[in-house]
Amino acid sequence: MTELSPYHEDQELDNNTSDNSHFRDILEQHISRRSLITKTASGAVALTLASTLTGCNDDDNNSSNNGGTPPTPVDPNKKPEKLNFSPVAKNQNDIVTVPEGYEATVLYALGDSINPTYGAWDDNNIPSGPSFQFRSGDCHDGMHYFGMNSTTQRFDESVSDRGLLVMNHEYINPTFLHPKGPTKVAGRRPEDEVIREVNAHGVSVIEIKKDKNSQKIEVVKNSVFNRRITGSTIMDFAGAAAGSPLLSTAYSPAARQTRGTHNNCGNGYTPWGTYLTTEENFIGYFKRSGTDKYQRTATEEIALKRYGLGLSIDYQYEKNPDGTPKKNEKGEIIYILDAQKNKIPNLDEQGRIKYLNTNSRYGWETAVGSVESQDLYDRWSADVKADAATKDYRNSPNTFGWMVEIDPFDGRQNPVKRTSLGRFAHEDSACRAIAGQPLAFYMGDDSRGEYIYKFVSEAKWDIKDINGGYAAGDKYMNAGKLYVAKFNNDGTGQWIELAFGKNGLNQSNTVYPFSSQADVVTFARLAADAVGATKMDRPEWCTVNPENGEVYVTLTNNSNRGSSYPTDAANPRSYEDLYNNTKTQKGNVNGHIIRFRENADLTTAESFKWDIYLFGAEASMAANINLSGLTDNNDLSSPDGMWFDPRGVLWIQTDDGAYTDVTNCMMLAALPGQIGDGAKATSSNGTETLVGKKVTDETLRRFLVGPKECEITGIAMTPDYKAIFINVQHPGEESADYASPSSNWPATQTNPSNKTARPRSATVVITRKDGGVIAG
Ligand code: FEO
Ligand code: CA
Ligand code: CA
Ligand code: CA
Repeated sequence: MTELSPYHEDQELDNNTSDNSHFRDILEQHISRRSLITKTASGAVALTLASTLTGCNDDDNNSSNNGGTPPTPVDPNKKPEKLNFSPVAKNQNDIVTVPEGYEATVLYALGDSINPTYGAWDDNNIPSGPSFQFRSGDCHDGMHYFGMNSTTQRFDESVSDRGLLVMNHEYINPTFLHPKGPTKVAGRRPEDEVIREVNAHGVSVIEIKKDKNSQKIEVVKNSVFNRRITGSTIMDFAGAAAGSPLLSTAYSPAARQTRGTHNNCGNGYTPWGTYLTTEENFIGYFKRSGTDKYQRTATEEIALKRYGLGLSIDYQYEKNPDGTPKKNEKGEIIYILDAQKNKIPNLDEQGRIKYLNTNSRYGWETAVGSVESQDLYDRWSADVKADAATKDYRNSPNTFGWMVEIDPFDGRQNPVKRTSLGRFAHEDSACRAIAGQPLAFYMGDDSRGEYIYKFVSEAKWDIKDINGGYAAGDKYMNAGKLYVAKFNNDGTGQWIELAFGKNGLNQSNTVYPFSSQADVVTFARLAADAVGATKMDRPEWCTVNPENGEVYVTLTNNSNRGSSYPTDAANPRSYEDLYNNTKTQKGNVNGHIIRFRENADLTTAESFKWDIYLFGAEASMAANINLSGLTDNNDLSSPDGMWFDPRGVLWIQTDDGAYTDVTNCMMLAALPGQIGDGAKATSSNGTETLVGKKVTDETLRRFLVGPKECEITGIAMTPDYKAIFINVQHPGEESADYASPSSNWPATQTNPSNKTARPRSATVVITRKDGGVIAG
């Protein structure tokens, strides 16, 4: 019997109860569209930038990336003037649909072997847990392609026919990962299932090769570069929190190492050729007992709560004869109230208020170690169990939530958690790299009402560091300044530095007394609260426009915008929408994409201008909700994955549950303009904002629709633009059980009538049947 229900990200989304909204209300300035246009729409500025920006994988200066291929009529390095493919219609088919003349091929699915010793995936014979160290993980997410120079076997951004594809495996769909779904025996998870689950998390590095003529891509199964990083892989800490007592565990009392990475959602990549993987919804993996409340200091408790591991009071409720809670017509528990109509807490044996246990998402802490050491499972309980943090795992949650650097070309050194970039529900990272300037890494914290951050390196970017591996990471990602964004209602914004001793981040802070920079980065959310950052509608992916350096961030949706989070110019919509003609959805139902441009175009800028590039909406919605003018060819909901390819084509992917009564999740291609190209607008709820130029069929177009109940995420391309990779995550996630899958993808991609196969997350490569340039 399974006691585990499928995970939905809604479970971990609401932890920002900080009261910093007064900062948002300080400026009620009028929006001046003219000032934005005059200051940002300078063609001269854009032109200078286009020639000096290197972006993170910009190959503008490369003239040899067609080496060996026949000449094509399209200059692959040139941004197309308009989108040249037929838009894909919204649909609910159980297949990846691509434009006419394009071909979608499944490349790498859950359980696929990356080592010739291990056999192919078989639905009816699920491989052992340990074998998943050599198999594809589950729930494919962020992804990047690194070209490989065949002579040096190192990163070469110009190579398209041989490279390493690196991707995240965010979490798992236990229903289909195990032979008969997840199980518990006498309250404990079987060890083989837990090993399979831990190994199905993390990152894959796989070598791929592309045929120069057909553009067909294959995984090189016997490559020495193929490897899995899992929820157990040993990792080093570097940066501001490395060595801090906040990260001490029984595994590494000196706080120099930890094991594993998980909930790797969006990704990033560095200009020196390494991969960045993020740790997003990590907190739910930890169990905490109600009694732990009395083992913790008030300060520790504040930090645990802010990151979603607070404990709830065990209140008295009315019971049915079988002891289960009685519920009212709305399904709410009926609590027993005192004379003042307050709920009454239960008390423990010592007469103290009793708190409820928090359960971990997958119950890994319940496993009994016989294959692996018991310690590997005990670490998923965050309870204080010993007389010092160096002897237990109370700090385990502090060892996740970081940006992790992986050198795909170096399997010998440990991946590195780069703590100077802060700890939060990290989603994605975009690096803006300009030779001679410090690097800027833009990052989102994906939870309702969380923030957008930037890390600026102390070191200035030097292209000689390309292929510098982890040493380059040490140079650019340890020393620097961490900032959080504040968006003013007038279209300006500030980066506020999160540095110990600055901006009130010291012992005298009333909510959380900071005592070091390690404290500030480990509890970056509390620091950001204290300086009055703007609460956003769930910041997901970030990307930099290679033409002008503008930074785009997806804000996927926020059901509480307009209720617990008042609207503001940067998060201006709150409205109602019907799902399936039955369920009413509220708040910012369909999400938006904000963009900003640094003052003087400097990575080090401490202020910026912003507008909203795009509002998600249904085409039929009122014009003051559908503010970007979407039509049936390009309407979308819940933008999440997003990436500017080096030509300047913007790819937008959706992770949606609001418009899925009409269409499965999708990917669109866009040719955006620039900040200030639109107008002032007022949302249906009366909030003024700045919206970019309305889109047309030629500037935003649906490129792909995924199979049933999936999310489309992860984008990578070969530098010749002839192959684009995407991930299909959790198809069939609403299935009742393993025996009745609601999707049969990827089997349906080649056999649409298949009605029995297990759904599996997978990487898909899309090429043109004529071998041409994608969207060219
Ligand atoms: Fe894992 Fe924020 O999506
Ligand atoms: Ca609807
Ligand atoms: Ca995401
Ligand atoms: Ca998402």
